[in-house]
Amino acid sequence: MFTKKQQLIGLDVGSSYVKIVQLAEKGAGFKLLNLGVVPLPAGTVKEGRVLNSKALVQCVNILTKNLKVKEKKVASAVSGYEVMIKKLEIPVMTEEELNSRMQTELRQYIPYSLEEVDVDYEILGISKERSGNMDVLLVAAKKESIRDYVNAVEACGLNVYVLDVDYFALNNALEMTEGFREDCIALIDIGSHKALMCIAVRGVPVFTRGLAIGGEQITEQISEQLKVALEEAERIKLGDSVPNISEGELEKVFVSVIRSWVGECKRAIDFYHSNYPDNRLKKIYLSGGSCRLPGLERVFREHMDVEVSVFNPFEHIQWDSNGFDGDYLNYIGPQMAIPLGLALRKTKEK
Ligand SMILES: Nc1ncnc2c1ncn2[C@@H]1O[C@H](COP(=O)(O)OP(=O)(O)OP(=O)(O)O)[C@@H](O)[C@H]1O
Ligand SMILES: [Mg+2]
Repeated sequence: MFTKKQQLIGLDVGSSYVKIVQLAEKGAGFKLLNLGVVPLPAGTVKEGRVLNSKALVQCVNILTKNLKVKEKKVASAVSGYEVMIKKLEIPVMTEEELNSRMQTELRQYIPYSLEEVDVDYEILGISKERSGNMDVLLVAAKKESIRDYVNAVEACGLNVYVLDVDYFALNNALEMTEGFREDCIALIDIGSHKALMCIAVRGVPVFTRGLAIGGEQITEQISEQLKVALEEAERIKLGDSVPNISEGELEKVFVSVIRSWVGECKRAIDFYHSNYPDNRLKKIYLSGGSCRLPGLERVFREHMDVEVSVFNPFEHIQWDSNGFDGDYLNYIGPQMAIPLGLALRKTKEK
């Protein structure tokens, strides 16, 4: 018989922090039950791969113990580094024909044998431009990368029920909270070692791109300029005052790096526009821990010719003022976009 679908714990393993979000369905929306963030020792995770499984286990244990999380069923995400995502336009065909067509398409895009990859695809609908064609989203990831990641999470005593891709979790977070208020929006999540850009047209992610930008670049700049260790530079970045640099000088460091980030984002958006000239970008949402940098939102606004907002998913999630502090949720919200997108997932109906 049918078992009730169960809400999963959202677990995001970033390169600097592990994050957990737990939600419960409430009326037409969701209620926040739990959230937590723990820093990972440097080098635990690199380019989406868990290099130090022991350190990850320790950090996840700290989180689950402190938050008293009993639930073991999680939704997590492999990093876009490890995944190929491609939107294709092909003639309308049957499921069977589509299956073999996808095999042929894949051979063009992946550099290894088909046995080595897990493949998923979704029909997005009839092409808007050509009615005899349909749009298909093709997603492929190396089996080995998926297995390694799942093993690392399961070593923490958790069970991976849903394995998503971080871009889609980000897109889902926006869809289920703020909603898609414009036809074409870009979500840009700026973390510590990378940024994810996901451009969605009428809610469907059509363009995804990993950008080699992130908060660690600013930490490195501070460390270089002030000749201090990276740990100290990180504390200075987060607001620790130091005698040999003024706030104004520090902000100059921030702004020069943020300008280069804006340049990277603009280049990716130009590339998107050259491929999708009919769907011009209307709005940008920023998320990730690094969007808290003083001046970041302003610099993006000054240089982008579309509206820019910071995305805080908790603005649209119910929470109990006995258990959570509104100021803290506003502070942490943008950094929690991806784990929140994961926490929206449920077990599949059996
Ligand atoms: N108040 C703040 N001011 C400036 N930077 C901040 C602030 N708070 C956090 N950060 C930066 O945000 C980054 C962490 O963000 P986030 O948690 O999104 O990254 P991550 O998911 O661990 O990394 P990645 O997505 O790159 O793998 C770090 O570089 C951290 O220094
Ligand atoms: Mg991240």
